[in-house]
Amino acid sequence: MTATDMLTDEHRLIKKVLDWGETEIARIDKGRPPDAAKLIQAVDFIRNFADRCHHAKEEGLLFKRLVEKGMPAQSGPIAVMLLEHAQGRALAAAAAAALEGVGRGEHGALAKLRENLAGYIALLRAHIHKEDHAFFPMADRLLSAEDQEALLWDFERMERERSAPASTKNTIAWPRICRRKNSPDKSDSKRFFRHPLHWPGIETIMTG
Ligand SMILES: [Fe+2]
Ligand SMILES: [Fe+2]
Repeated sequence: MTATDMLTDEHRLIKKVLDWGETEIARIDKGRPPDAAKLIQAVDFIRNFADRCHHAKEEGLLFKRLVEKGMPAQSGPIAVMLLEHAQGRALAAAAAAALEGVGRGEHGALAKLRENLAGYIALLRAHIHKEDHAFFPMADRLLSAEDQEALLWDFERMERERSAPASTKNTIAWPRICRRKNSPDKSDSKRFFRHPLHWPGIETIMTG
């Protein structure tokens, strides 16, 4: 597994939540009440996993290494990816605020929730497609096998650092990213990084 393979794996997990979000939008469009508990979990996943963990690996580690390899930092593909991350962050924040408004029974909050959720899903789907089919193949051509291996260990360190408890303001306690919980020995890096990707809250979103 390479570092870009790992990010593609994480995209698969993110896309599962985007798929669920689309079914939730369809529910709202049919006039049914939104599933607030699952929406809280999904927003938590979007902000804490998709952004705080996945996008942080891309921005803080992958992009930096690509800049060292000669990719421009302020223009071209990296600038586009950074802009889309920022747009996603704004949409997720607006969706979270609208969800709180729905909880308080505010007029118009449900429409805002629907609009921002749909905007986020469309943006992230296009963004992930671009990364999987254009940006990561470009990165693979620039990075050596050693770069990819070093990045995997940098990712692992970032996961550990970012798995610390989040602020008490969070509705849901920060769940430990347990992808490599009970995983094989770190000395066997091939097996270690193949340990299945997992997010503790995801079953709650998908089931029922
Ligand atoms: Fe990205
Ligand atoms: Fe990504």
